[in-house]
Amino acid sequence: MLWSSFLLLGVAQLALSSPLVKRFEDFSEKHSWADIPNGWEHKAAAPADYVFDMRIGLKQYGIDDLIENLMEISDPYHARYGQHLSKEEVEAFTAPHANSVGAVDEWLEFHGIDPSSVKRTPAGEWVTLRVSVAQAERMLGTKYNVYRHAKSGEDVVRTLSYSLPKELHNHVDVIAPTTYFGTLRSMKATNFVQHDVKPLSAAEIHEASLAPVSNAAVPSSCARTITPACLRALYNTAAYTPAATGTNKLGVAGYLGEFANTADLQTFFKSFRTDAVGTSFNVVLVNGGQNSQGTPGVEANLDIQYTTGISAPTPNTYYSTGGSPPFQSDTFTPTNTNEPYLDFLTFLLAQTTIPQTLTTSYGDDEQTVPLDYATSVCNMLATLGSRGTTVFFSSGDEGVGGGDCKTNDGTNKVIFQPAFPASCPFVTAVGATTGISPEQAISFSGGGFSRYFATPSYQSAAVSSFVTGLGTKFNGLFNKTGRAYPDVAAQGQGFQVVVGGRVESVAGTSASSPTVAGIFSLLNDFRLSQGKTALGFINPLIYSTAKTGFNDITSGSNPGCGQTGFTAGTGWDPVTGLGTPDFVKLQALV
Ligand SMILES: *[C@@H]1O[C@H](CO)[C@@H](O)[C@H](O)[C@H]1NC(C)=O
Repeated sequence: MLWSSFLLLGVAQLALSSPLVKRFEDFSEKHSWADIPNGWEHKAAAPADYVFDMRIGLKQYGIDDLIENLMEISDPYHARYGQHLSKEEVEAFTAPHANSVGAVDEWLEFHGIDPSSVKRTPAGEWVTLRVSVAQAERMLGTKYNVYRHAKSGEDVVRTLSYSLPKELHNHVDVIAPTTYFGTLRSMKATNFVQHDVKPLSAAEIHEASLAPVSNAAVPSSCARTITPACLRALYNTAAYTPAATGTNKLGVAGYLGEFANTADLQTFFKSFRTDAVGTSFNVVLVNGGQNSQGTPGVEANLDIQYTTGISAPTPNTYYSTGGSPPFQSDTFTPTNTNEPYLDFLTFLLAQTTIPQTLTTSYGDDEQTVPLDYATSVCNMLATLGSRGTTVFFSSGDEGVGGGDCKTNDGTNKVIFQPAFPASCPFVTAVGATTGISPEQAISFSGGGFSRYFATPSYQSAAVSSFVTGLGTKFNGLFNKTGRAYPDVAAQGQGFQVVVGGRVESVAGTSASSPTVAGIFSLLNDFRLSQGKTALGFINPLIYSTAKTGFNDITSGSNPGCGQTGFTAGTGWDPVTGLGTPDFVKLQALV
């Protein structure tokens, strides 16, 4: 009996070793880590029956053309400047080739998954399916484990490496979740409360609320504490009244556990921008995001208060992206398998209308984001730019790098640590300044050179003159041919933020990014009110015809990694970029 069933099995296996079997069992590695990523520890093998949503990112057949087109429509010298694409036009570029769809569908069928049962984005470039750990392990030739983030206590199911059948490497960009450990909770929010900066007193706030705000006069208190009045005077927006509030929109990307509080915003306006009292913001919940008004987040309140503090009454939307999967969790079951960027970006790109300005104050060390994942996210950000959205990210709060700055490829070499998504060439990265006369770089301002993405042509002249000036200094510590950031900067400490009814002083490039987003939202308002298109991806513009619209910051530096860091100087530098925006000058240039 035993013997005969063994024989039968043997025959069955022979029959199965048809080309189909070979085709999808011939694995080659897609990505692997040398070690468990910093800050995480192995907890246990993942339970075989644990179920999660797997995302397959298919190769976008026209992505190179989309990027080429993006560079053209963002170049102020090009005939098609400002001709952004609709959702459908973008999808013609981001859709996968039929051969890729076919190959992936056959792979799914091989694993017993009905290709008609999976979820697809409108263009079909992302396929999402619910799988068990056991099934994912068979599909990706890997083992999943539960890893714990020591600091947050968060458990995730990830793997240290994954593979794909050889044939699929030409058809698939990335599979998630696999080797990217960044999660909503473990990601760095780029802000910190400054307990050593005494917030303004009630009397000082009262006085500030009565003072007229003009472009000419920057209150002297702005050297220590920042309010919307400081920023509106310093960056010259005080005299501008938005005129396109019917079409212009601003968006703030927020993540799990961070909610902007509506009552706090009104308290903030009563203190710091009395003419905006009554203006509120919309909340859009993405993928199970929440909006618990009970526990306001410093980051969320900062972002909403300072975007709106500058751009009111321009409609503002807070996107609260969730991350808890819709199944039962027990003490052993991990509670979060979702990743920060994909949920939000696929949601946004599926909308017909997207805010013309978007700001995000989160990031990771670039080396902790696998190249395939980072490339996919960066391409989605290029797609947002193609749709006509200006995308700002904070540049990070650790200067040229925090911690021990060791590489994670097994060699443990010390190098400056660029931050992602600031290092993506399709976003505008925002560094930080302080002081008013003169405004200087602040020491935590994140800046550096990507090790993943090459210097884009729009910044090559600016960057090469900086690199040439540097000579051999820091040789080997940074990548001279990489995308360099930040692109611009703004004030970054002493921000007076209302949290739970109380005023706190907050610092970080988290403060700088919404500030610049508020100012560019006003520039979008200006263009739209003139019957022009929105600014969209601004980097080619700001490094060329609009570069004189910035106040060059020429002192300060951003130490890190045990080094003195880069120094701000005349022209672009990897501490403050091109400088801080001057709205009136920019208005004349855009
Ligand atoms: C430098 O950046 C390029 C992209 O321009 C990348 O291919 C290369 O690997 C990077 N080198 C180092 C040492 O990081």
